[in-house]
Amino acid sequence: MTEHVQIRELAEHVGDDVSVLGWVHNLRSSGKVAFLIVRDGTGLVQGVMSAGDVSPEVWERLEGLDYEASVKVGGSVREDERAPGGYELSLTDLEIVGPSAEEYPIQLKEHGVDFLLEHRHLWLRTPRQVAIMRVRDEVVKAIRDFLYEQGFVNVDTPILTGSIGESAGTLFETEYFDLGAAYLAQTGQLYNEATAAALGRVYCFGPTFRAEKSKTRRHLTEFWMLEPEIAWCDSECNMRIQEGLVCYIVERAVERCRDLLENELERDLSKLASARAPFPRLSYSEAIERVQSLGSSIQWGDDLGAEDETLVAQDYDRPVFVYNYPKQAKAFYMKENPDDPRTVLCDDLIAPEGYGEIIGGSQREDDYDRLLARIREEGLPEEAYGWYLDLRRYGTYPHSGFGLGLERTVAWICGVPHIRECIAFPRTLNRLYP
Ligand code: 4AD
Ligand code: MG
Repeated sequence: MTEHVQIRELAEHVGDDVSVLGWVHNLRSSGKVAFLIVRDGTGLVQGVMSAGDVSPEVWERLEGLDYEASVKVGGSVREDERAPGGYELSLTDLEIVGPSAEEYPIQLKEHGVDFLLEHRHLWLRTPRQVAIMRVRDEVVKAIRDFLYEQGFVNVDTPILTGSIGESAGTLFETEYFDLGAAYLAQTGQLYNEATAAALGRVYCFGPTFRAEKSKTRRHLTEFWMLEPEIAWCDSECNMRIQEGLVCYIVERAVERCRDLLENELERDLSKLASARAPFPRLSYSEAIERVQSLGSSIQWGDDLGAEDETLVAQDYDRPVFVYNYPKQAKAFYMKENPDDPRTVLCDDLIAPEGYGEIIGGSQREDDYDRLLARIREEGLPEEAYGWYLDLRRYGTYPHSGFGLGLERTVAWICGVPHIRECIAFPRTLNRLYP
């Protein structure tokens, strides 16, 4: 029995006889010599088999081999600069574990995106998609490490909720036994505000749902959001934490996924190197003036659209904060700005290169009467917010928090134009399959 090793571990096994379990990525044969590229999710390795070195039985197995068949190959590990990954296997054995049926749908040529999305379950196996999923994993790990070091406690919040978290316009509703409507969570924030009063600094991290009718490259109907909530923290403190977190994530991804980013995703890393604190800050009013001067028809009071965000971002080589938006453009829970009550103490963090808003954050309204007035103004069902208002009745406290969109952040770091590639099975307006 030879030792089963992952492809990424081959460097530690030069000269050893090993076996690799994986899938056939490519196969060429010249009649006497065959070149078999196997991938196992940790990398690619080329195996070279000479007809003279193996039994006729093993050699014949090459005949039955197609793209993506699962195989066990055995051989000795050689260092070879020219080989993909730097190591090569001199093959002495090949077993077909699971043959690949007929023609594998995804070939090494270009396919249309609809075709690829139909075959997402197979598309995920391609090196580019594997690279994106690995960067996503690193980003998630970096987020958790950063928050852990800063004393945050992970407390996850429900997906089935009874109160509207963000806006009535984009709710997924489902029937909940005898209790009427339940909504899929648009945010965990309201619950975080309760747990922050228990633990101080908390975060939830999970899927959130928006029935967005928009077909843009920045919108999914199901996306992952990181939401920290911080007791005794004002809007200024909130932005500093966001800045620190984003710098940390980018640095970690570049450090630990450099090869994937540079070679597989062809990301221009100089663009990420400039993502250093402090991030520039523009008040909403300054941002409006700037985008109007660049030709936007936006009026004071409107939320910034995707194009406006791109215009704001083009002046900078790193993410930019736009803070203190008009009340009417934002959610009911944001704290009124005492210096200009038309606005609220909030911020959006806009990524460079057209990736748009990656974070939305705010200081929360901690005054019972003002919060109740906002709930009524927005026409929200008051009875569903009794527990939320209680947080202002029993020891209200200044607090802030934010939501970072995971797929948008990963798209920016990877330089991937559309966020649908940044989640394994994207949910969009017209796609629920696979
Ligand atoms: O700005 P949003 O709507 O903020 C909230 O939900 C707050 N409750 C967060 C908080 O303060 N705890 O969403 C936060 C982020 C956006 O900046 C964006 O990155 C991402 O979530 N996002 C989406 N990502 C993909 N598809 C969508 N449809 C998204 N909607 C928001
Ligand atoms: Mg937002």
